[in-house]
Amino acid sequence: MKAVVYDRYGPPDVLRVEEVPLPAPAAGQVRVKVAATSVNLSDWEGLTGSPAYARLGGLRAPSRRTLGSDIAGVVDEVSHGVTGFQVGDEVYGDNLALMGGFAEYAVAPESTLAHKPTELTFTEASTIPQAGAIAMQGTHRAVPGCRVLINGAGGGSGSFAIQLAKRLGAHVTGVDNATKQDFMRSMGADEVIDYRAEDFSRTGAPYDLILDLVAQRSVFAYRRALARGGRYRCAGGSVRTLLRVLTAGSVVGRATGRSIGVLVVKQGPSQFEPLAALCAAGDIRIHIDRTFALDDVPAALAHVGEGRALGKVVVTPQLG
Ligand SMILES: NC(=O)c1ccc[n+]([C@@H]2O[C@H](COP(=O)([O-])OP(=O)(O)OC[C@H]3O[C@@H](n4cnc5c(N)ncnc54)[C@H](OP(=O)(O)O)[C@@H]3O)[C@@H](O)[C@H]2O)c1
Repeated sequence: MKAVVYDRYGPPDVLRVEEVPLPAPAAGQVRVKVAATSVNLSDWEGLTGSPAYARLGGLRAPSRRTLGSDIAGVVDEVSHGVTGFQVGDEVYGDNLALMGGFAEYAVAPESTLAHKPTELTFTEASTIPQAGAIAMQGTHRAVPGCRVLINGAGGGSGSFAIQLAKRLGAHVTGVDNATKQDFMRSMGADEVIDYRAEDFSRTGAPYDLILDLVAQRSVFAYRRALARGGRYRCAGGSVRTLLRVLTAGSVVGRATGRSIGVLVVKQGPSQFEPLAALCAAGDIRIHIDRTFALDDVPAALAHVGEGRALGKVVVTPQLG
Protein backbone atom coordinates (compact mmCIF):
# COMPACT_ATOMS: atom_id res chain seq x y z
CA MET A 1 0.00 0.00 0.00
CA LYS A 2 0.99 3.66 -0.36
CA ALA A 3 1.97 5.56 2.79
CA VAL A 4 3.58 8.91 3.56
CA VAL A 5 6.65 8.19 5.69
CA TYR A 6 9.47 10.11 7.39
CA ASP A 7 12.55 9.13 9.41
CA ARG A 8 13.65 12.43 10.91
CA TYR A 9 12.03 15.57 12.28
CA GLY A 10 12.04 18.48 9.87
CA PRO A 11 10.06 20.53 7.34
CA PRO A 12 7.44 18.93 5.05
CA ASP A 13 10.10 17.92 2.50
CA VAL A 14 11.37 15.18 4.86
CA LEU A 15 8.13 13.34 3.97
CA ARG A 16 8.00 10.93 1.04
CA VAL A 17 5.43 8.55 -0.42
CA GLU A 18 6.50 4.88 -0.27
CA GLU A 19 5.11 1.41 -0.96
CA VAL A 20 5.00 -0.30 2.46
CA PRO A 21 3.58 -3.62 3.68
CA LEU A 22 -0.12 -3.67 4.55
CA PRO A 23 -0.30 -3.32 8.37
CA ALA A 24 -1.75 -6.28 10.28
CA PRO A 25 -4.05 -5.55 13.24
CA ALA A 26 -2.92 -6.95 16.62
CA ALA A 27 -5.33 -8.24 19.25
CA GLY A 28 -8.04 -5.71 19.98
CA GLN A 29 -7.30 -3.76 16.78
CA VAL A 30 -8.98 -3.37 13.42
CA ARG A 31 -7.56 -2.39 10.04
CA VAL A 32 -9.28 0.54 8.35
CA LYS A 33 -9.24 1.30 4.63
CA VAL A 34 -8.71 5.03 5.08
CA ALA A 35 -11.09 7.28 3.17
CA ALA A 36 -10.13 10.51 4.94
CA THR A 37 -7.65 11.73 7.55
CA SER A 38 -7.89 15.27 8.85
CA VAL A 39 -4.75 17.23 9.67
CA ASN A 40 -4.25 18.50 13.21
CA LEU A 41 -1.65 20.87 14.58
CA SER A 42 -0.38 17.78 16.47
CA ASP A 43 0.64 16.28 13.06
CA TRP A 44 2.68 19.37 12.28
CA GLU A 45 4.25 19.19 15.75
CA GLY A 46 5.04 15.48 15.19
CA LEU A 47 6.62 16.33 11.83
CA THR A 48 8.82 19.15 13.06
CA GLY A 49 9.50 17.69 16.54
CA SER A 50 8.53 21.03 18.04
CA PRO A 51 7.39 21.97 20.70
CA ALA A 52 9.57 19.53 22.66
CA TYR A 53 6.56 17.50 23.93
CA ALA A 54 6.13 16.31 20.32
CA ARG A 55 9.35 14.26 20.84
CA LEU A 56 8.01 12.32 23.83
CA GLY A 57 7.75 9.15 21.68
CA GLY A 58 11.26 9.57 20.20
CA LEU A 59 13.77 12.18 21.28
CA ARG A 60 16.10 12.08 18.25
CA ALA A 61 13.91 10.45 15.59
CA PRO A 62 10.14 9.93 15.29
CA SER A 63 8.84 6.67 16.76
CA ARG A 64 6.01 6.43 14.17
CA ARG A 65 6.94 6.53 10.48
CA THR A 66 3.52 7.68 9.31
CA LEU A 67 1.60 10.59 10.82
CA GLY A 68 -2.16 11.15 10.73
CA SER A 69 -4.38 10.36 13.69
CA ASP A 70 -7.94 11.51 12.88
CA ILE A 71 -9.06 8.77 10.50
CA ALA A 72 -12.36 7.83 8.86
CA GLY A 73 -12.88 4.80 6.64
CA VAL A 74 -14.16 1.25 6.32
CA VAL A 75 -13.08 -1.69 8.51
CA ASP A 76 -11.41 -4.26 6.25
CA GLU A 77 -9.93 -6.66 8.82
CA VAL A 78 -10.79 -7.43 12.44
CA SER A 79 -8.36 -9.09 14.85
CA HIS A 80 -9.28 -11.33 17.78
CA GLY A 81 -10.72 -9.70 20.83
CA VAL A 82 -12.64 -7.09 18.82
CA THR A 83 -16.32 -7.14 19.70
CA GLY A 84 -17.76 -3.82 18.51
CA PHE A 85 -16.86 -3.80 14.81
CA GLN A 86 -16.98 -6.06 11.79
CA VAL A 87 -15.61 -5.94 8.26
CA GLY A 88 -17.50 -3.33 6.24
CA ASP A 89 -18.35 -1.02 9.16
CA GLU A 90 -17.88 2.71 8.53
CA VAL A 91 -15.82 4.14 11.39
CA TYR A 92 -13.93 7.23 12.53
CA GLY A 93 -11.73 8.13 15.50
CA ASP A 94 -8.54 9.69 16.86
CA ASN A 95 -5.73 7.13 16.53
CA LEU A 96 -3.25 9.36 18.38
CA ALA A 97 -1.15 6.54 19.89
CA LEU A 98 -0.54 4.59 16.65
CA MET A 99 -1.09 7.31 14.00
CA GLY A 100 -0.68 5.99 10.42
CA GLY A 101 -3.61 7.81 8.82
CA PHE A 102 -1.63 9.33 5.94
CA ALA A 103 -1.73 5.96 4.18
CA GLU A 104 -4.20 3.81 2.28
CA TYR A 105 -4.74 1.56 5.34
CA ALA A 106 -4.19 2.07 9.08
CA VAL A 107 -4.58 -0.14 12.14
CA ALA A 108 -6.32 1.25 15.20
CA PRO A 109 -7.37 -0.06 18.61
CA GLU A 110 -11.09 -0.77 18.74
CA SER A 111 -11.35 1.56 21.74
CA THR A 112 -10.42 4.63 19.66
CA LEU A 113 -13.15 4.16 17.04
CA ALA A 114 -16.86 4.85 16.73
CA HIS A 115 -19.44 4.03 14.07
CA LYS A 116 -19.63 6.94 11.62
CA PRO A 117 -23.00 8.73 11.59
CA THR A 118 -24.60 8.09 8.21
CA GLU A 119 -25.40 11.80 7.82
CA LEU A 120 -21.68 12.68 7.70
CA THR A 121 -19.28 11.96 4.84
CA PHE A 122 -15.93 10.34 5.66
CA THR A 123 -14.25 13.68 5.01
CA GLU A 124 -16.57 15.43 7.47
CA ALA A 125 -16.30 12.70 10.12
CA SER A 126 -12.49 12.81 10.03
CA THR A 127 -12.50 16.45 11.14
CA ILE A 128 -14.22 15.76 14.46
CA PRO A 129 -12.36 13.39 16.84
CA GLN A 130 -9.31 15.35 18.03
CA ALA A 131 -10.42 18.91 17.36
CA GLY A 132 -13.90 18.12 18.66
CA ALA A 133 -12.69 16.58 21.93
CA ILE A 134 -10.52 19.63 22.62
CA ALA A 135 -13.32 22.03 21.75
CA MET A 136 -15.92 20.22 23.87
CA GLN A 137 -13.71 19.86 26.93
CA GLY A 138 -12.45 23.42 26.57
CA THR A 139 -15.90 25.04 26.41
CA HIS A 140 -18.27 22.83 28.42
CA ARG A 141 -18.20 25.18 31.43
CA ALA A 142 -19.52 28.12 29.41
CA VAL A 143 -22.86 29.44 30.72
CA PRO A 144 -25.31 32.01 29.33
CA GLY A 145 -23.85 35.48 29.37
CA CYS A 146 -20.33 34.50 30.37
CA ARG A 147 -17.44 35.99 28.46
CA VAL A 148 -15.41 33.35 26.65
CA LEU A 149 -12.15 33.95 24.80
CA ILE A 150 -10.68 31.36 22.43
CA ASN A 151 -7.05 31.93 21.46
CA GLY A 152 -6.19 30.31 18.10
CA ALA A 153 -9.91 30.28 17.23
CA GLY A 154 -9.50 30.23 13.45
CA GLY A 155 -8.10 26.68 13.32
CA GLY A 156 -9.65 23.23 13.62
CA SER A 157 -10.44 23.10 17.34
CA GLY A 158 -11.23 26.81 17.48
CA SER A 159 -13.91 26.74 14.81
CA PHE A 160 -15.80 24.06 16.77
CA ALA A 161 -15.10 25.79 20.11
CA ILE A 162 -16.60 29.11 18.97
CA GLN A 163 -19.83 27.39 17.93
CA LEU A 164 -20.06 25.25 21.07
CA ALA A 165 -19.55 28.24 23.40
CA LYS A 166 -22.18 30.21 21.45
CA ARG A 167 -24.66 27.33 21.78
CA LEU A 168 -24.17 27.52 25.55
CA GLY A 169 -25.12 31.20 25.46
CA ALA A 170 -21.67 32.74 25.93
CA HIS A 171 -20.37 36.00 24.51
CA VAL A 172 -17.41 34.77 22.45
CA THR A 173 -14.20 36.53 21.45
CA GLY A 174 -12.00 34.76 18.89
CA VAL A 175 -8.30 35.51 18.59
CA ASP A 176 -6.27 34.64 15.49
CA ASN A 177 -4.36 36.36 12.69
CA ALA A 178 -5.85 39.08 10.47
CA THR A 179 -6.74 36.72 7.59
CA LYS A 180 -9.04 34.68 9.88
CA GLN A 181 -11.15 37.49 11.41
CA ASP A 182 -14.09 37.15 8.96
CA PHE A 183 -13.97 33.37 9.28
CA MET A 184 -14.20 33.53 13.09
CA ARG A 185 -17.19 35.87 12.79
CA SER A 186 -18.82 33.46 10.33
CA MET A 187 -18.45 30.71 12.95
CA GLY A 188 -20.33 32.94 15.41
CA ALA A 189 -17.68 34.95 17.26
CA ASP A 190 -19.16 38.16 18.67
CA GLU A 191 -15.79 39.85 18.72
CA VAL A 192 -12.46 39.11 17.09
CA ILE A 193 -8.88 40.10 17.87
CA ASP A 194 -5.85 39.97 15.57
CA TYR A 195 -3.12 38.56 17.79
CA ARG A 196 -0.40 40.22 15.74
CA ALA A 197 -1.92 43.66 16.37
CA GLU A 198 -3.43 43.38 19.87
CA ASP A 199 -2.79 41.58 23.15
CA PHE A 200 -5.94 39.80 24.35
CA SER A 201 -4.81 40.05 27.96
CA ARG A 202 -5.38 43.81 27.63
CA THR A 203 -8.02 44.14 24.88
CA GLY A 204 -11.56 43.31 25.94
CA ALA A 205 -10.49 41.63 29.19
CA PRO A 206 -11.52 40.39 31.69
CA TYR A 207 -12.93 37.05 30.52
CA ASP A 208 -14.69 34.33 32.54
CA LEU A 209 -13.34 31.41 30.50
CA ILE A 210 -10.29 31.25 28.25
CA LEU A 211 -9.45 28.29 26.01
CA ASP A 212 -5.91 28.77 24.72
CA LEU A 213 -4.87 26.53 21.82
CA VAL A 214 -1.49 28.21 21.30
CA ALA A 215 -0.28 29.40 24.74
CA GLN A 216 2.73 31.71 24.61
CA ARG A 217 2.19 34.34 27.32
CA SER A 218 3.20 34.71 30.97
CA VAL A 219 0.93 33.48 33.75
CA PHE A 220 0.61 37.12 34.84
CA ALA A 221 -0.91 37.96 31.46
CA TYR A 222 -3.40 35.12 31.91
CA ARG A 223 -4.25 36.31 35.41
CA ARG A 224 -4.79 39.83 34.05
CA ALA A 225 -7.04 38.47 31.27
CA LEU A 226 -9.31 36.61 33.72
CA ALA A 227 -12.19 37.97 35.77
CA ARG A 228 -12.22 36.99 39.45
CA GLY A 229 -13.52 33.41 39.58
CA GLY A 230 -12.52 32.95 35.95
CA ARG A 231 -10.86 29.90 34.42
CA TYR A 232 -7.95 29.64 31.95
CA ARG A 233 -7.03 26.36 30.27
CA CYS A 234 -4.39 25.85 27.57
CA ALA A 235 -4.40 22.80 25.29
CA GLY A 236 -1.17 23.49 23.42
CA GLY A 237 1.61 26.02 23.00
CA SER A 238 5.26 26.43 23.88
CA VAL A 239 6.67 23.96 26.43
CA ARG A 240 8.02 26.84 28.46
CA THR A 241 4.55 28.35 28.77
CA LEU A 242 2.88 25.02 29.54
CA LEU A 243 5.41 24.35 32.32
CA ARG A 244 4.90 27.81 33.76
CA VAL A 245 1.13 27.36 33.68
CA LEU A 246 1.46 24.00 35.43
CA THR A 247 3.69 25.38 38.18
CA ALA A 248 3.36 29.14 38.74
CA GLY A 249 -0.05 29.26 37.06
CA SER A 250 -1.87 27.25 39.70
CA VAL A 251 -0.24 29.25 42.51
CA VAL A 252 -0.97 32.64 40.93
CA GLY A 253 -4.48 31.52 40.09
CA ARG A 254 -5.30 30.30 43.60
CA ALA A 255 -3.78 33.39 45.23
CA THR A 256 -5.95 35.69 43.11
CA GLY A 257 -9.25 33.81 43.03
CA ARG A 258 -8.82 32.44 39.51
CA SER A 259 -8.09 29.00 38.05
CA ILE A 260 -5.12 28.75 35.67
CA GLY A 261 -4.13 25.33 34.31
CA VAL A 262 -3.49 22.96 31.41
CA LEU A 263 -6.32 21.11 29.64
CA VAL A 264 -5.28 17.45 29.53
CA VAL A 265 -7.61 16.26 26.82
CA LYS A 266 -9.49 13.02 27.52
CA GLN A 267 -9.70 10.80 24.45
CA GLY A 268 -12.04 8.20 23.05
CA PRO A 269 -15.41 8.10 21.32
CA SER A 270 -17.35 9.38 24.33
CA GLN A 271 -15.39 12.62 24.01
CA PHE A 272 -16.26 13.31 20.35
CA GLU A 273 -19.50 11.47 19.56
CA PRO A 274 -21.72 14.18 21.14
CA LEU A 275 -20.19 16.76 18.78
CA ALA A 276 -20.61 14.42 15.81
CA ALA A 277 -24.30 14.10 16.71
CA LEU A 278 -24.63 17.91 16.69
CA CYS A 279 -22.88 18.06 13.31
CA ALA A 280 -25.07 15.26 11.94
CA ALA A 281 -28.17 17.17 13.08
CA GLY A 282 -26.91 20.32 11.35
CA ASP A 283 -26.55 22.22 14.64
CA ILE A 284 -22.77 22.67 14.35
CA ARG A 285 -21.02 23.44 11.07
CA ILE A 286 -17.92 21.63 9.84
CA HIS A 287 -15.71 23.95 7.85
CA ILE A 288 -13.31 22.17 5.52
CA ASP A 289 -10.76 24.55 4.07
CA ARG A 290 -9.26 22.12 1.53
CA THR A 291 -8.79 18.45 0.75
CA PHE A 292 -5.50 16.99 -0.50
CA ALA A 293 -4.50 13.71 -2.19
CA LEU A 294 -2.06 11.36 -0.40
CA ASP A 295 0.81 12.51 -2.64
CA ASP A 296 0.18 16.06 -1.45
CA VAL A 297 0.43 15.40 2.32
CA PRO A 298 3.54 17.63 2.58
CA ALA A 299 1.51 20.52 1.16
CA ALA A 300 -1.44 19.69 3.43
CA LEU A 301 0.78 19.76 6.53
CA ALA A 302 2.44 23.00 5.42
CA HIS A 303 -0.99 24.56 4.87
CA VAL A 304 -1.91 23.86 8.52
CA GLY A 305 1.54 24.33 10.09
CA GLU A 306 2.15 27.64 8.39
CA GLY A 307 -1.22 28.86 9.61
CA ARG A 308 -3.02 29.25 6.27
CA ALA A 309 -5.93 26.91 6.98
CA LEU A 310 -9.38 28.17 7.94
CA GLY A 311 -10.99 25.39 9.97
CA LYS A 312 -9.95 21.88 8.89
CA VAL A 313 -7.77 20.37 6.17
CA VAL A 314 -8.36 16.76 5.08
CA VAL A 315 -6.29 14.17 3.20
CA THR A 316 -8.26 11.65 1.09
CA PRO A 317 -5.96 8.63 0.49
CA GLN A 318 -8.33 6.70 -1.81
CA LEU A 319 -9.00 9.57 -4.21
CA GLY A 320 -5.60 9.63 -5.94
N1 LIG B 1 -3.73 18.81 25.61
C1 LIG B 1 -3.86 17.71 24.83
O1 LIG B 1 -4.01 16.61 25.33
C2 LIG B 1 -3.83 17.88 23.33
C3 LIG B 1 -4.12 16.83 22.44
C4 LIG B 1 -4.08 17.07 21.07
C5 LIG B 1 -3.74 18.35 20.60
N2 LIG B 1 -3.45 19.34 21.50
C6 LIG B 1 -3.11 20.71 21.09
O2 LIG B 1 -4.31 21.44 20.90
C7 LIG B 1 -4.07 22.47 19.93
C8 LIG B 1 -5.12 22.32 18.86
O3 LIG B 1 -4.87 23.12 17.80
P1 LIG B 1 -5.66 22.97 16.41
O4 LIG B 1 -5.52 21.57 15.89
O5 LIG B 1 -6.99 23.59 16.52
O6 LIG B 1 -4.65 23.88 15.58
P2 LIG B 1 -4.83 24.70 14.25
O7 LIG B 1 -5.98 24.16 13.46
O8 LIG B 1 -3.49 24.82 13.61
O9 LIG B 1 -5.24 26.14 14.82
C9 LIG B 1 -4.36 26.93 15.60
C10 LIG B 1 -4.65 28.41 15.24
O10 LIG B 1 -3.89 29.24 16.11
C11 LIG B 1 -3.37 30.34 15.35
N3 LIG B 1 -2.23 30.90 16.05
C12 LIG B 1 -0.91 30.62 15.94
N4 LIG B 1 -0.20 31.35 16.81
C13 LIG B 1 -1.08 32.11 17.50
C14 LIG B 1 -0.96 33.07 18.54
N5 LIG B 1 0.23 33.39 19.07
N6 LIG B 1 -2.07 33.64 19.03
C15 LIG B 1 -3.30 33.33 18.53
N7 LIG B 1 -3.48 32.44 17.52
C16 LIG B 1 -2.39 31.83 17.01
C17 LIG B 1 -3.02 29.69 14.02
O11 LIG B 1 -2.96 30.64 12.98
P3 LIG B 1 -1.59 31.25 12.40
O12 LIG B 1 -0.48 30.27 12.70
O13 LIG B 1 -1.83 31.50 10.96
O14 LIG B 1 -1.40 32.56 13.05
C18 LIG B 1 -4.23 28.76 13.82
O15 LIG B 1 -5.31 29.42 13.19
C19 LIG B 1 -2.63 22.29 19.46
O16 LIG B 1 -1.79 23.17 20.17
C20 LIG B 1 -2.31 20.84 19.84
O17 LIG B 1 -0.93 20.64 20.11
C21 LIG B 1 -3.52 19.12 22.83
